[in-house]
Amino acid sequence: MLLEVSGLSKNFGGLAAVSNVDLAVRQGEIRGIIGPNGSGKSTLFNLISGIYKPEPGARIVFDGADITNREPHEIARLGIARTFQLLRIFGQMTALENLLIGYHPHIRYGIGPAMVGALGMWTEERRVRDEMMELLAFIGLAEYADMPAGEL
Ligand SMILES: Nc1ncnc2c1ncn2[C@@H]1O[C@H](COP(=O)(O)OP(=O)(O)O)[C@@H](O)[C@H]1O
Ligand SMILES: [Mg+2]
Repeated sequence: MLLEVSGLSKNFGGLAAVSNVDLAVRQGEIRGIIGPNGSGKSTLFNLISGIYKPEPGARIVFDGADITNREPHEIARLGIARTFQLLRIFGQMTALENLLIGYHPHIRYGIGPAMVGALGMWTEERRVRDEMMELLAFIGLAEYADMPAGEL
């Protein structure tokens, strides 16, 4: 399993927003979660991404790492991120550039060109661009990669 959650709960005062949830997601699977307003969907994602801390007894394991109670930026670095209902798109930047910005925590030349050299940096940038183009193709936007996002 890529993601395994067990015994996940969150209370807001006397309100049990998420109550003893277990779930598992395999690598390559795409899952959705549905439910009426107020049923705890957003809270569930806020717990998995570390924005809220769960009640004691929960366990969240991602790709073999226990991420229960880890900070959101650490969880994002490992590869789990959430997006929001009210998106913040950079309208003047292209669709591809918007994805590149979202990807910045995963770029490997963070310590600078001095360590990897110009060639290493170029190779890494190519690799990331190729990967972002695959994502755009997956959602049917590859042909709009260079269009300002505000014009889509
Ligand atoms: N930060 C919070 N403080 C207090 N109550 C909250 C908070 N976030 C969510 N809730 C409550 O928890 C319940 C689940 O909310 P939420 O997870 O946003 O549901 P959904 O995303 O399924 O609409 C609701 O009753 C909501 O009012
Ligand atoms: Mg919600």
